Amino acid sequence: MRPLTLDALNPQLQTVQYAVRGELAIRAETLREQLKQPNNGLPFEQVISSNIGDPQQKGLDQKPITFTRQVAALMEWPALAELAPDVFPPDVVARAKELQEEIGSIGAYSDSQGVPLIRKSVANFIAERDGHPASPGDIFLTAGACAGVSLLLNLLITAPTDGILIPIPQYPLYTATLAQHHGTPVGYLLNEADGWSTDPESIRAALAKAAAEGVQIKALVVINPGNPTGALLAEDTMRTLVTLCEEHSLVLLADEVYQDNVHDRTQHTFVSFKKVVRDMRSPVPLVSFHSISKGVSGECGRRGGYFELANFADGVRALVYKLVCVCLAAPVSGQIGLDTMVGPPRVGDASYALWREETRAIHAALAERTRAMADALNRLPGVRCVQSPGALYLFPQITLPATAVASAREAGKEPDAVYAMGLLEATGICVVPGSGFGQKEGEWHYRLTCLCPGTDEYVGKLVQFHIQYLAEWEKA
Ligand SMILES: Cc1ncc(COP(=O)(O)O)c(C=O)c1O
Repeated sequence: MRPLTLDALNPQLQTVQYAVRGELAIRAETLREQLKQPNNGLPFEQVISSNIGDPQQKGLDQKPITFTRQVAALMEWPALAELAPDVFPPDVVARAKELQEEIGSIGAYSDSQGVPLIRKSVANFIAERDGHPASPGDIFLTAGACAGVSLLLNLLITAPTDGILIPIPQYPLYTATLAQHHGTPVGYLLNEADGWSTDPESIRAALAKAAAEGVQIKALVVINPGNPTGALLAEDTMRTLVTLCEEHSLVLLADEVYQDNVHDRTQHTFVSFKKVVRDMRSPVPLVSFHSISKGVSGECGRRGGYFELANFADGVRALVYKLVCVCLAAPVSGQIGLDTMVGPPRVGDASYALWREETRAIHAALAERTRAMADALNRLPGVRCVQSPGALYLFPQITLPATAVASAREAGKEPDAVYAMGLLEATGICVVPGSGFGQKEGEWHYRLTCLCPGTDEYVGKLVQFHIQYLAEWEKA
């Protein structure tokens, strides 16, 4: 028998890059194991995973929402409601009963498009958010937003010359998925000097370049609030982007998984693309993605999310349905998590006061940490950090000494990846280099999450490392 080797496998898959869980994250896991050994010789006591927007990961302090977990517990084991009658508030018991009547056992496959009752709850949530109706028939429940993104990109790419416009910097789900489906990512640059805003002119420039190179653009991806930038789109820009999609017959893929992560609600409001498209009475085919992984929910491990189709022809919707049937159904536990996210306790419900306090505390901690970290980074020589009004991240720009850049290049590495590895080895803090997201030629960044408690100590380590790093390379 011939051994199975890489050259026998799909060559396209070997081009997939996903920096968020790349070389640095692998090294971080090795260091974490090493820390368990006595006399491990490491200069830090814990590895801090600032590389991934996973709010409930071990070592962080974001607690799950009690209402979500109580409903989940009763769905897992319905007998609990009688075994522990004093534990569960009446609105939790009522929600679980309603879901049990619809779903039966959580261990069974659901409808491939998602539990109908939960799709109805999602439609109500969207209608209430946007002031426009939504139909459960247009909503597909997924195993996280990734599953929906992958399905839609697969659907849209018909040849390697098909392109998808993606923001630069982008969340690498897009380039990685396009590599799998053999499509062409076409970047449009976000404007760092203007708070990482989206300039429609940069999209027009990317469209013109693609046309000159024979790439047929099929869709525009917009991430709002942004990852890794944390920027929030202005509504007039959103309108211009919708018009641009109309002019170029593009599908609009709106990644809105951070819609509940808006730090200062007195100054900023999230507006969905669904609202803008409906307000404009636009015919643009829109797919909007949402997830239970982010926001105050933070239930990444449960794998829940949805996408909503707007302005899709029946035949196309039927094809999407056929494709989701191939994998049978999204995890029912994720769908239940989605139900509690889109339908939280209301004023007057027994769980309301606790839910309100828990969500308030999560928003406040994230806003404070984001602000404090950006302020501290901006005090450093050679670092500029745009304050982020939304999402979970900061994306500071670092000016690296020419000697450090040359040394990294000689080793065949990206200079910001070498910087990030140095940071990890010295402090245990794992970030993702900007090169993993895409950035302007000759600029360097890293992305770090704002989820870690103990901002002073954590930022203190970043500061100390940076100052030492500059001193060492400037001497070299
Ligand atoms: C912009 C963006 N889209 C999609 C996802 C995927 O999220 P999910 O866990 O719902 O698959 C992420 C995860 O970090 C993200 O940042």
